[in-house]
Amino acid sequence: MSDPLLPSKRSHPVVTVNRCVCHDVPFETIKEWADTRTQTTLEDIEIEWCCGSSCGMCRQYLLHMLATGETTIPMIMPTDEH
Ligand code: FES
Repeated sequence: MSDPLLPSKRSHPVVTVNRCVCHDVPFETIKEWADTRTQTTLEDIEIEWCCGSSCGMCRQYLLHMLATGETTIPMIMPTDEH
C-alpha cells in the first residue's frame, strides 16, 4: 500500500496538440508540404492552409513545428508573461 502523503509515482498524461483545430489540418500534413519547399514561414502556412488565421491558437505550435520538425507537441500552457 502506498503512502498517501508521498507523491504518486504515476506520471501525469502529457496533453499534446497535433493539428490546427479550426481548419482540421494535421501538422504532419503541413510539415510534409513544408518539406517540399526551400523555406516556409507562418505567413506561407496561413496563405496555403488558412491555419493560424482564425483563432490563432495553433500559431505557436506551427512555429515550433517549423523550428524542430515535431508534429505532436506538448500543450503550451499560457503564462502571465506578456
Ligand atoms: S487552431 Fe489554427 S487557427 Fe485556430
